[in-house]
Amino acid sequence: MTETSNNSDADHAGRGDDGFPKEFIWGASTSSYQIEGAARADGRGPSIWDTFCRQKGKIANGDTGDTACDHYHRYPEDVGLMRDLGVQAYRFSVAWPRVLPHGRGVANEAGLAFYDRLIDELIAAGIEPWLCLYHWDLPQSLDDIGGWTNRDCAGWFADYAALIGRRYGDRVKRFATFNEPSLFTLFGYAFAWHAPGLSDRADYLQAIHHVNLAHGAAVDALRTVPSASIGGIHNWQPCVAATPADGAAAEQLAAYWNGAIADPQHLACYPPLVEPLIDPYVRAGDLARICRPVDWFGLNHYSPIYTKADPAAALGVALGPSPAHVPRTGVGWPIEPQAFRETLQTVHRRYRLPIYVMENGFGSTDDRLDDAGRIADRHRIDYLKSYTDAMRAAMAAGADVRGYFVWSLLDNFEWNSGYGPRFGLVYVDYATQRRVPKASFHWYARMVQEARRGRSP
Ligand code: FCB
Repeated sequence: MTETSNNSDADHAGRGDDGFPKEFIWGASTSSYQIEGAARADGRGPSIWDTFCRQKGKIANGDTGDTACDHYHRYPEDVGLMRDLGVQAYRFSVAWPRVLPHGRGVANEAGLAFYDRLIDELIAAGIEPWLCLYHWDLPQSLDDIGGWTNRDCAGWFADYAALIGRRYGDRVKRFATFNEPSLFTLFGYAFAWHAPGLSDRADYLQAIHHVNLAHGAAVDALRTVPSASIGGIHNWQPCVAATPADGAAAEQLAAYWNGAIADPQHLACYPPLVEPLIDPYVRAGDLARICRPVDWFGLNHYSPIYTKADPAAALGVALGPSPAHVPRTGVGWPIEPQAFRETLQTVHRRYRLPIYVMENGFGSTDDRLDDAGRIADRHRIDYLKSYTDAMRAAMAAGADVRGYFVWSLLDNFEWNSGYGPRFGLVYVDYATQRRVPKASFHWYARMVQEARRGRSP
């Protein structure tokens, strides 16, 4: 499917004066390592996150994704929850090491069969599967030979993409290549906060370029699926100077965070601040290999990033703090819906592609069952309401936004923060794996229902 961006504002088909277009897609997102568990089941190979979680002091509370939400076994219940939620679409990721235990070579039939079952269950429930190829769980065997710092990784990724296209392309139309490539390269290869835990400028720069090459190669591989509609998922967050002296640091971080991946993939160039540093790794023809036509722009957005200069840090920049007057989520992220509106408009103007918001949500640390057995997560509802209002305002101002996926369906493993932060519309009691829809679940269900009826939610 090819979609062209609608740049002429108010005439986006079917939109009422103040509502969402009826064909707007409402969804929910998750990722493999954060929910599946079953880390050793049915021939799954280890990923860099399995390894990283075992390194002392890397993950809060020593948590791991070994069991997570046990979605691997409980997916029918989880799809049932999505049906109750009323979403039209569900975005999940395939665990590369579940289907190719060593990242390449012989595929694991049992792992492939899991995603067959999940996809079939979704389709039977009337929910469209949106499949992301990579949400950070690189097979450990590939990391052992350099992972994203090895240029060959682009080819291994393209082979994996071709396998996924062949296997599921009869039922899946929507494919995303990478989730937040700028974040996993920055956090994994420069800041050492995420797997594989490196902090080296050359590794980081190579990882950026090789991930970009992998994206281009995977887009080409997926084009063999005749109905494929393909995009990447980028976390675009405005980088704001924490103090007046931090302007240059904010500009530098923005070049990496927002530009170093999205620009070459869509505009065939690296941002000027990054280009001279990446140049040693760029071969003739690379930018044409990276910039392959895509059908949409997947946007993850939570908050602006306050940035300060820090000469001791890997790139000379560090995060935070946000100004005292700005309210924050339970996990300390600034709540600034107008930055979301501006981001949607910026991304619309810059890349001229239909935008799907693939992640937006509220992290808390105090979601609890009350005496009546409910979770009254008022703050999450307020956040989601203000952010979806901001999205509507951006659309009214011309941004071509076609869908919104909340992060997340379920509470889950929040990377180096472990299970402390909860982002789900559904509460997960990890001791029993009981699922309890929160107040925000019922709020979102109502909103989706109203919006789909063409009413202003
Ligand atoms: C995003 C990640 C997602 C989740 C949310 C809270 O950066 O893509 O996996 O951790 O943040």
